[in-house]
Amino acid sequence: MTAPANSCGTKGRPATALALFGREWLRAPLRVGAVAPSSAALAQAVTAGMSAADGPVIELGPGTGVFTHALLNRGIAPDRIAAIEAGERFAIALALLHPDITVICADAARLRHLTPFAPAGAGAIICGLPLLSMPPSKVMRILAGSFAALRPGGTVRLFTYGSRCPVPKAIRLRLGLVAQRTAFVALNIPPATVYHLVRREDAA
Ligand SMILES: C[S@@+](CC[C@H](N)C(=O)[O-])C[C@H]1O[C@@H](n2cnc3c(N)ncnc32)[C@H](O)[C@@H]1O
Repeated sequence: MTAPANSCGTKGRPATALALFGREWLRAPLRVGAVAPSSAALAQAVTAGMSAADGPVIELGPGTGVFTHALLNRGIAPDRIAAIEAGERFAIALALLHPDITVICADAARLRHLTPFAPAGAGAIICGLPLLSMPPSKVMRILAGSFAALRPGGTVRLFTYGSRCPVPKAIRLRLGLVAQRTAFVALNIPPATVYHLVRREDAA
């Protein structure tokens, strides 16, 4: 992504992650969906066990890049990461911070048309989107686009502040998805649960 000089409004210096997150939350609380970036503990849990072999990786809703940073630490090369972020200020700040990853400023519901890493497909998708504040039709588009963008056997990794998988059961059934709860992270504001979604082998 090309980032215009001073586009973060900070006189050439990127805002600190926390300040940027707070300002974006004030601007668009429903889109941001959290009062603070995820903790390092949650980023560890969401990316647990990942290695270069899981690349390329698509990240949905990277925000200030906590999970992006964890992916890089797990050995995913920057040119094997594509991050799709609807918030322009988040997208610009992330592109400035990680110039070698692909940052696409777009709605993740358009993933099917964005086709990062097509035709081979991605090995994993890290979803940081506030799915609980989205209408089911949008969640359906995001999940259908995600599994179209994954290679066979690929996984969507996501987290929720709620008590159950944030992808409604009707959508999981329609797409042939199986949800597995993999971790509970108390060290996050608020505490969060991590899920993996995979497509059943017999699903189309
Ligand atoms: C809960 S924050 C998570 C940010 C980061 N992943 C983290 O865990 O700290 C949700 C992020 O998703 C982005 N977002 C919300 N709706 C989106 C959409 N439809 N497409 C792409 N990004 C979206 C927000 O701008 C925000 O950066």
